[in-house]
Amino acid sequence: MTREYLVRGGKPLFGEVTISGAKNAAVAIIPAALMVDGVCRIENVPMISDVTLSLKILEELGASIRLLNAHTVEIDSRHIACTRTSYDLARKIRASYYLVGSLLGRFGQAEVAMPGGCNFGGVRPIDQHVKGFTAMGAKVTLESGFINAAAEGGRLHGANIYLDVVSVGATMNIMMAAALAEGTTVIENVAKEPHIVDLANFLNSMGADIRGAGTDSIKITGVPRLNGGSYAIIPDQIEAGTYMAAVAATGGQVLVKNIIPKHMDCITAKLQECGVEIQEREDTLLVRRTGKLQKTNIKTLPYPGFPTDMQPQMTTVLCLAEGTSLVTESVWGSRYRYVDELKRMGASIQVDDKTAVVEGVDHLTGAPIQATDLRAGAALVIAALAAQGESRITGVSYIERGYEDIIEKLRALGADIRAVDVPDEADLRSRIS
Ligand code: EPU
Repeated sequence: MTREYLVRGGKPLFGEVTISGAKNAAVAIIPAALMVDGVCRIENVPMISDVTLSLKILEELGASIRLLNAHTVEIDSRHIACTRTSYDLARKIRASYYLVGSLLGRFGQAEVAMPGGCNFGGVRPIDQHVKGFTAMGAKVTLESGFINAAAEGGRLHGANIYLDVVSVGATMNIMMAAALAEGTTVIENVAKEPHIVDLANFLNSMGADIRGAGTDSIKITGVPRLNGGSYAIIPDQIEAGTYMAAVAATGGQVLVKNIIPKHMDCITAKLQECGVEIQEREDTLLVRRTGKLQKTNIKTLPYPGFPTDMQPQMTTVLCLAEGTSLVTESVWGSRYRYVDELKRMGASIQVDDKTAVVEGVDHLTGAPIQATDLRAGAALVIAALAAQGESRITGVSYIERGYEDIIEKLRALGADIRAVDVPDEADLRSRIS
């Protein structure tokens, strides 16, 4: 069976939505918990498939995992016995590359299946991760689908590392490895996303010595071991932005709860340019759209610029804005595979390399559409909610990798959306034979 979403669009959203813990922080903090020679309790964990897969990988490596409540996980990594991940689990998620940094940092060696994850239609290199580990004294090879890394002499040493591209993954991975290295590591030209700061705070609360996360340069003084402790993951900036974009597209009024308004500034500013009213309070945003949407231009950039992970959702909003908007993707080489699906719904978008020219249309029409990656899937959900008529969305496992309880959260806002299980080709074949 495969899961699909059926959406009857055209209804404005009203009510309140509570944002879950940040996916891209959780998928780094869980592997980082492997470095802790003790028990750590992690709160505000989003229960999404990328997280459950990460927990399963840790369990396979010998960690004990206990779910204390719906969003609190206790990880005991005192008895890790193995530094090689199973091929099948690790290759399913992009974030499995963090296991290289965490295992290498704690045990001086790691064998991790090459990461999988969302495919935007281009390559997703990890050369900057490798550059960092090598500078710290590791030998890194790629063999039979595995990344093999081993520290000379069994422990990494500090180094000065300049990243050639601003990379979230390389920044976090090198930071983890350096936390338990001998001596001091300085990483320059690093990413500054909220989840970078969250990982540094997590490691520091377990006894690491990391300074400067959130600026261009991070200094890590290696410590011999990390102890147990408790930590709560920050709210998900992109999940919050996705619900804000949904209200912009459908109209209505929604209170977005459990957010850090500062993290939302780059998204809030763009939605306001489009005519969406947003009122900021301590840890909520009230989002309201009653009038016509206006065009704007967007260029994705590393934080604090406009996030690439909001580009598909925002392009969908702009499909319904008056006038012509320009969207430029400058983080990933290509991230427009969803555009053909929006066109099936009546959107008018021309893509030329990294730029999409979006001509606003009066309305979108429901259609059968297919999610090709996580944020593309979120964009199609938004389009289907705003469209006239019914849409059927396939490929929803991508969406469920990153959005906790999306169906329940949207239904609570008045959306007409439901998930159905339909027989897939294999089911049909077995019935015929
Ligand atoms: N890059 C390199 N070499 C490297 C690493 C990256 O050239 O060694 C390039 C990439 O090709 C890309 C740019 O640098 O052009 C930025 O990539 P980055 O390393 O920052 O991306 P990532 O760590 O692989 C994370 C998120 C993505 C998000 C990007 C950018 C996770 C698990 N993934 O990916 O999130 O798009 O940062 O913010 O944290 C998503 O959540 O939907 C998602 C794809």
